[in-house]
Amino acid sequence: MRQTIRPAGPLSGVVVLPGDKSISHRYAMLAALAEGDSRISNYSTGADCHSTLGCIRALGIGVEEEGATVTIHGRGMHGWNQPAGDLDAGNSGSTIRMIAGLLAAQPFVSRIFGDESLSKRPMDRIMKPLASMGAKIGARENRFPPLTIHGGRLHPIDYTLPVPSAQVKTSVLFAGMFAEGETIVREPIRSRDHSEIALREFGAELRVKQRVITIEGPAKLTGRELVVPSDLSSAAFFLVAALLVPGSHLVIQNVGLNPTRSALLDFLLSIGAPVSTPRIECVNGELIGDIEVRYAPVRGGVIERELTAALIDELPVLAVLGAASEEGLAIRDAQELRIKETDRIATVAKNFERMGIHVEVTPAGMNIPGKQKFRAAAFDSFGDHRIAMAFAIAALHGDGESTIDNAEAASVSFPEFWSILARF
Ligand code: S3P
Repeated sequence: MRQTIRPAGPLSGVVVLPGDKSISHRYAMLAALAEGDSRISNYSTGADCHSTLGCIRALGIGVEEEGATVTIHGRGMHGWNQPAGDLDAGNSGSTIRMIAGLLAAQPFVSRIFGDESLSKRPMDRIMKPLASMGAKIGARENRFPPLTIHGGRLHPIDYTLPVPSAQVKTSVLFAGMFAEGETIVREPIRSRDHSEIALREFGAELRVKQRVITIEGPAKLTGRELVVPSDLSSAAFFLVAALLVPGSHLVIQNVGLNPTRSALLDFLLSIGAPVSTPRIECVNGELIGDIEVRYAPVRGGVIERELTAALIDELPVLAVLGAASEEGLAIRDAQELRIKETDRIATVAKNFERMGIHVEVTPAGMNIPGKQKFRAAAFDSFGDHRIAMAFAIAALHGDGESTIDNAEAASVSFPEFWSILARF
C-alpha cells in the first residue's frame, strides 16, 4: 500500500491512541496462565498483539474479542495444551521471546516461527538463559527462528542480562514462575518494568531492589480486570508532528506514563519542547495521563547510554525531529537499533537520503545536523512499522507531496495511524 502525505497546517485537537503494545502482550500471556477470566480493555489493536492472542488460542485458551476489549479464559499455570501446529509470532519479537519463557516450562514440544523480518532477529539472547534453566531449545543456525522448544521442568537461575532488554528479562521472569525457588534477573540498565508490575497485579511473588528482580516460583496467578494505557511510543509520532509544524497544539489522552518509558517526555522537555502532563493517575500499577504539547523550535542534543536504551523505539522519529532542530542530534550506543524489525540506522539513513537530509552514520548511531530542509520524497517503510510512521511525520514538514510505500507496516503496532493522521 502506498500512502500520500501532504504538508500539514497546524495540528490541533485531542488525539486518542490504541493500547500499549508492550503491556498488552504481557497482560494476554499472564491472563492465559491465570485461574479464571481476565477482561482487558483498550487492548492493542496492532497485529503484533494479535499474534500473541493467536498463539494463546493455539495453546487451547479461550479468547474473545469485542472491539478493543479482550476476555481471556485462563486455565491456570498448567492449563495449556500442546498446539496442533506451529505457533505464528508474525512480526513480533515480543511474542516469540516472551512466550518462549512460558513454552520452556510446558510438558510438551512446541515450534514457533515468524515472518521474514523476525526470522532474521537473534533469539540466542533468550535461548542461553532458558537453556541454563533446563530448557532445550533448537533454532536455525542456533540463533534464529523458528524455535523448537522442548519444555520441561525448570530450575531457578541468577542471571545478569548481557544486553539491556525487557524482552529477555521478561522471558526469564516468566520461566521463573515455573521454577521452584528464587529466579533472579540483574539488569545493567533499567529497562521497561511492565512485566514486574503485571506479574504483581496477577498475584505473583516478586521483589525489586534497584536493578535486581527476584521472582518466587511456583507462581499462582488469578484472572482480573485490567485497563491498558494508550501507547506512549505511538504518541511519540504525534508529539514530534506537533514540534515540526508551527502553531500546533495537541492533547493526547490516557497515555501510559510509566517512568521506565517516559524518558521521551523528559528528553523533549530538556531540548525545549513545551510538553506537560496535566493529569496523571495510577491504574493497575501503571501511570496513565494526558500529554499536552505545543509547537516550539527545539534545540537538539545527544542521546547516549541509558537514554538510548530508554528511547530505543522512539529513535527513528526523534531522528526526524533532530534534522529540524536548531543544533542537530547525535544518537550513540544504539547498536540494538540494528536488530529491530529492520536495521533502523540503515533504514532511517536511506529515507533521509531520499529527502535530501544529511546524516553521518556510525556503527552504533548517527549524527544528524540540524536546521535541514525537508524535501518531499518517495519513502519506503522497508516493512517496518516505526519507519513508516516516522517518515509520514517527516512528510508533514516536507515542501510538497510525499509518498510512503509499504505503508501497511504501520498496522503492526498502530492500525489507526493513517486515519488519525488524515484528520490533520
Ligand atoms: C519491548 C522491549 C524492547 C522494545 C520492543 C518492546 C518490550 O525490545 O524495543 O519494541 O515490550 O519488552 P528489547 O527488549 O529487545 O530492548
